[in-house]
Amino acid sequence: MVTPVIETRELTYIYPDGTQALRGINIKLTAGQKIAVLGSNGAGKSTLFLHLNGILRPHSGKVLFRGSEVRYHQRDLLDLRKNVGIVFQDPESQLFSASVLQDVSFGPANLGLTKNEALAATQEAMRQTGITGLEGRPTHFLSYGQKKRVSIAGVLAMEPAVIIFDEPTACLDPGMALKIMALLDEQSQQGKAIIMSTHDVDIAYDWADYVYLLKDGGVIGEGEPQHVFLRRDWLDRCDLTCPTVIETYLELTGSGLLPINKPIPRNKQELFQSIRSASPGSGPLLKTARHG
Ligand SMILES: Nc1ncnc2c1ncn2[C@@H]1O[C@H](COP(=O)(O)OP(=O)(O)OP(=O)(O)O)[C@@H](O)[C@H]1O
Ligand SMILES: [Mg+2]
Repeated sequence: MVTPVIETRELTYIYPDGTQALRGINIKLTAGQKIAVLGSNGAGKSTLFLHLNGILRPHSGKVLFRGSEVRYHQRDLLDLRKNVGIVFQDPESQLFSASVLQDVSFGPANLGLTKNEALAATQEAMRQTGITGLEGRPTHFLSYGQKKRVSIAGVLAMEPAVIIFDEPTACLDPGMALKIMALLDEQSQQGKAIIMSTHDVDIAYDWADYVYLLKDGGVIGEGEPQHVFLRRDWLDRCDLTCPTVIETYLELTGSGLLPINKPIPRNKQELFQSIRSASPGSGPLLKTARHG
């Protein structure tokens, strides 16, 4: 069996004010895997993520990195943080340098790369996140979406083996959200393990290999997206809606307009393809579907 790059076992966390934010969480993440974590506000997503690179230390339970339990010594933590990058939910928590260039290059400059290597990694991350040209801009004058992209670039520039994205597309315009998701795919194809939280069921359904549903600090459901997003009971408990592609597919199959196919379509393109193959070259099916 492949050793997970990150794993948590019975992870429990209580904030100093007594709020129990995590209750026995078990998750696993392997290289090249794309995991989505969903759950309503306050479910514990950000708290869980802060454990994955050692920012928070569990009250009980453990975090394992490449099969070894994190011991929270300085050496363990440095190793963990070099290998596990986190893009915070709020970019304001991530940016601290005067200019965009300084911010994105901070990580690579501190990794022991030569000046030229650090600059090359910085420029590549800026290109990938579409912020080339903003190098000299003070970070505090950037728009929210620009700040978000700068914070993503700062993490990509360090080339960590695992990247944690806490709501990477929140507050981004739709075009930029799509670009960021394509970037996450690209990173995963390069063998990075990626875990992200999102409130967007359509993005999670299309993108993830595996999904965890969190509620009140516990995992109430997990599995492949085609399984998880068909569980209305789980979705209802987490105040989540069914992804549009599944809802449309169920409506079309339920009304006999589309034969039941396995696997069910993962995205709009696959759904359209099912519709086209069910009714070759005919517009009427589409018209019927649209007008009821
Ligand atoms: N610094 C803190 N001190 C005390 N309680 C906290 C702190 N940060 C978070 N909490 C509490 O821990 C619980 C989990 O919060 P967390 O931020 O992990 O949720 P989340 O799933 O990320 O929510 P959101 O979708 O709003 O980002 C909530 O009850 C929250 O109020
Ligand atoms: Mg959060």
